[in-house]
Amino acid sequence: MDEQDLDRTQESLASLATPEYEATLRALSQASVDRNFDAFVDVPWDDPDFRIDPSDRHWVLTEADPLGRHPWYQNLPVERQIEIGMWRYANIFKVGLQFENLLIRGIMQYVFTRPNGSAEFRYLTHEATEECHHTQMFQEFVNRSGQDVKGGTLLFRMLAPVLPLFAKWVPFGFFYGVLAGEEPIDHVQKSILRAGDDMHPLLQRIMQIHVAEEARHIGFAHQYLEHKAPRLKRGERFVLSLLVPVIMRWLCNEILVPSKRAQRDMGIPEDVMKQVYWDAAESRKFLRDLFGDVRMLAENTGMMNPVSRRVWRAMGIDGRASRFRSEPASAAA
Ligand SMILES: [Fe+2]
Ligand SMILES: [Fe+2]
Repeated sequence: MDEQDLDRTQESLASLATPEYEATLRALSQASVDRNFDAFVDVPWDDPDFRIDPSDRHWVLTEADPLGRHPWYQNLPVERQIEIGMWRYANIFKVGLQFENLLIRGIMQYVFTRPNGSAEFRYLTHEATEECHHTQMFQEFVNRSGQDVKGGTLLFRMLAPVLPLFAKWVPFGFFYGVLAGEEPIDHVQKSILRAGDDMHPLLQRIMQIHVAEEARHIGFAHQYLEHKAPRLKRGERFVLSLLVPVIMRWLCNEILVPSKRAQRDMGIPEDVMKQVYWDAAESRKFLRDLFGDVRMLAENTGMMNPVSRRVWRAMGIDGRASRFRSEPASAAA
């Protein structure tokens, strides 16, 4: 591509912007300026109440965690429950920060191509800044937990260098991937906070900060995808419609299912793994409920058609679409 082609592409990209979309991005950018957190200012790491004590019962997994609900876990001696709980929280934060790292790098690829005056450039660099703080906050938790966790599966870690390039090649697919990481973490963190169980203050503080900033990130991804969807070519739309549920399920598994190594380290028996992830009826409901908002978005962005619906079902993440964002899933769904 020579320089003229590049200019032409950038001009045509700029012409895709609409005033409402730009205004939303400016509002999100202002919100980032007005309310943001710093990992080492807003978390009192050295406060004695925030100390991580390996004999503290706060680290026992609650019912909000699919593993915490399982009788195998509940019947373990409490010291073992604490050990596994701490390992589990540390590993979730580790995968979380690996995702955020991918997202930051993808954002940098994407904003490199934005024309001058782009509202996407401004908003997305705010988002990357916030994600940098999250990776610091999560890594600090992992360090202080004393757990030498690896995060995602080997495959995921091997693909990590190339995944951000999709932000340049197929930004639409990339931002769906971003939601595949952000929606399950956000959903789980919100339900833990909502349940109001007796939480460790450090965990609570980290989750509060994260949920507050993720609301903007998820809001942006929805806006971006709804804005770009009408500009997709028919063939592109169809191929993406089949890929979206696969991306959702794959990345959700990366975040929520302990890897083989994690399973070994925590000593979880094979049959318990199978039931929890995701054979038990309760687990299947939990999995479907994670994606109510994404199903709504898929409807709004033309990603639902008779063939793609079958893929959603095959991935075990079909079901009713939310009517509005963060609508609580019904008990019966
Ligand atoms: Fe984050
Ligand atoms: Fe985020």
